[in-house]
Amino acid sequence: MGISLGLVGLGAFGSAFADLFMSHPLVDRIALCDREPERMQVFAEKPSWQPKLSPRDLYPSLDAICGSDLDALVIITQPWLHAPQAIQALEAGKHVYSAVPVISIPDADEILAWCDRLVRAVETTGRHYMLGETTYYRPQAMYCRRRARSGAFGSFVYAEGEYIHDRDGRSNLREVRRRRLASQAGQEWLAREADYRERGVLNGPMHYPTHSTSGPISVMGAHPVTVCAWGYENRTADPYFADYAFSNETALYYMSNGATMRICEFREIGHPEREIFRIYGTDGCFEDDAWTDNRARTPLTVEEMRDPLPPEVAEAFQQVGGDSFYGGHGGSHAYLVHEFVDAVYHDRVPAINVWEAVRYTAAGAAAHKSALQKGAHVDVPDWGDPPKLNDIP
Ligand SMILES: NC(=O)c1ccc[n+]([C@@H]2O[C@H](COP(=O)([O-])OP(=O)(O)OC[C@H]3O[C@@H](n4cnc5c(N)ncnc54)[C@H](O)[C@@H]3O)[C@@H](O)[C@H]2O)c1
Repeated sequence: MGISLGLVGLGAFGSAFADLFMSHPLVDRIALCDREPERMQVFAEKPSWQPKLSPRDLYPSLDAICGSDLDALVIITQPWLHAPQAIQALEAGKHVYSAVPVISIPDADEILAWCDRLVRAVETTGRHYMLGETTYYRPQAMYCRRRARSGAFGSFVYAEGEYIHDRDGRSNLREVRRRRLASQAGQEWLAREADYRERGVLNGPMHYPTHSTSGPISVMGAHPVTVCAWGYENRTADPYFADYAFSNETALYYMSNGATMRICEFREIGHPEREIFRIYGTDGCFEDDAWTDNRARTPLTVEEMRDPLPPEVAEAFQQVGGDSFYGGHGGSHAYLVHEFVDAVYHDRVPAINVWEAVRYTAAGAAAHKSALQKGAHVDVPDWGDPPKLNDIP
């Protein structure tokens, strides 16, 4: 018998995952939840959903779906809601998948406090938590983790990662903000945002850091120990950055393995979108989709870099998504869905577990604190490794 799971948040991003979660062969029953009922109807009316979705499994709120007997919840709500919602669901006995990051709010210390509460909630409830970080399942990241496991990098020396996403880029961030505010949950945020503004708490792009930090951290299997960061202040009085101390932030970390890591989070930059990393070791390096050592450079195809999906899972996804079933963000969506469902089904710690997730998020919060202090050294908190690391594939 498979698992039952509920999808909470069917906005732009949640909708992109719905068919994949519904069609996974280990999912027997699916439920939908959104405070905007019409966002659920799109899926509730699809013929392909009828065998797994019952009309009683449409929920008007997180509170309501937490009272259900579902095994797991997939929370893809606005980024300022994730951590408290995840904790509510864990305490209701659900396994939780959360969209990135752990939480994004203007106050760095508050982000770190939520990281701590989330780890404690996983430890006390014994439920599984997974962060849906797309970069983790980009083909480049899968390839580098395989190379790292076989020792091909030698000792890690240096890594760099960046999330370059100009507010007027292809995926326009002004439009994203407008859509995220166009709901009851969105309108409630405006009052909370004004409260931070009145208290003089200013945001930074490092509060959405997981696309840039997850590659180097997951490949090296190391965590940031200390950070120095600096910010670039917007000079055009652009209202998009009214609540931001900086529109761009750059950080340099000393890592637990003795390597250094450079991270950039840029939102005001004349460059097309990019979220990728490069990693350098004493014996081998990875950059620009190629493996390099001191003898040769070997370019790699996507097929060579990505891990295989189980054939029955790939086939089920193909039936709903056609040949492009891997989904967006470098084809990572299919892997995220499979990893969470498989972890819940086998009752094992997911690959992007809570201890890993807080590393990606805390790295950004600590960097923003440093940037606010013009590059002062700031220690990066760490919550340790998962208790059952050997369970992770
Ligand atoms: N590459 C990536 O990993 C990536 C890309 C895009 C978005 N995201 C993340 O996905 C998340 C969602 O983004 P989006 O653009 O889809 O937002 P959205 O505003 O379009 O959708 C969020 C939905 O959550 C619902 N919601 C909020 N609180 C609820 C509650 N208590 N009960 C039920 N429903 C509730 C809202 O009604 C809304 O429909 C964001 O956190 C974002 O960071 C990640």
